[in-house]
Amino acid sequence: MPAFTATAPGKIILFGEHAVVYGEPAIAVPVSSIQTRASVKAVIDGISGEIQIDAPDISLSSSVSELDPDHPLRAAVMAVVGNKNPEEIPACKIQISSTIPTASGLGSGAAVSAALIRALSAFLGQRLIDEQVSDLTFEVEKIHHGTPSGIDNTVIAHQKPVYYVRGEPFEFLSIGEPFSILIAGSGIPGHTREAVQRVRKNWINDPDRYDSIFKSIGEISKTAKDLIDAGSPADLGPLMNENHILLQELGVSTPELDLLVETARQAGALGAKLSGGGLGGNIIALVDEETDQITEALTKSGAAYTLNSTIPSTKIPG
Ligand code: MEV
Repeated sequence: MPAFTATAPGKIILFGEHAVVYGEPAIAVPVSSIQTRASVKAVIDGISGEIQIDAPDISLSSSVSELDPDHPLRAAVMAVVGNKNPEEIPACKIQISSTIPTASGLGSGAAVSAALIRALSAFLGQRLIDEQVSDLTFEVEKIHHGTPSGIDNTVIAHQKPVYYVRGEPFEFLSIGEPFSILIAGSGIPGHTREAVQRVRKNWINDPDRYDSIFKSIGEISKTAKDLIDAGSPADLGPLMNENHILLQELGVSTPELDLLVETARQAGALGAKLSGGGLGGNIIALVDEETDQITEALTKSGAAYTLNSTIPSTKIPG
């Protein structure tokens, strides 16, 4: 029986995190220079129904049945095998490796689920389309994050930039001109679940104020979509800065993230904001060609890592 392998990219949210949970639009793009890889191969002479998982990056080597029922890896396996009879599942081993920093707002959890779900389904004889991978990943995301909007599983399963409104069919983003983003990790684990809960608590205490912040963020995402489509990426910088202020008002930034955002701007970035859930994790900065000076400044200000990502145009030239 052949081995089946699948990969899934990391992601960044360009605009609209948190507000997207409340029905406002958001924009996310895949980051394919960082990836999770899942490989499934048969265990000869193993007992049917026995699935082993090896994920050395998180020091995990276990039989799936020995993991906690709500462990995300077990949940991802269960999303695929469902109520299949163990006889229908050849004994197998799932190997997972990833270059996506964990707890960083880069979608590592969703990427692990998506790669595992895609590879295990193929191993069991059913190749899933992106939509199915996204839907199953969403089920696992609920365990990671409680009330996810669905944007992370969508961008990661489809591996393309998306404009996403919760509860509506998503759109692939039309990109007039390529642009470059510099990602910098604060080195402090991001806590998406806690961040989402904090925002919900704030919203419950003062719905009018928070609804108006969500609405302003939604307007930014709409404007950004048009600018990206029109090929005016340089104009996104001020929108990133405005989005960051609104995320500060939501209570999900930290002094470390604010310092990195400020450092990127001072060193020449066209705009910068935190990206993802916040309370740690990473920032993104819109940059033009020359990034060495910005990278150096970010490292001096405590960035644990930096990554360059170019978002290619979706328009065919000519
Ligand atoms: C996390 O990448 C983005 C959030 O908006 C949560 C979500 O959309 O599920 C913070």
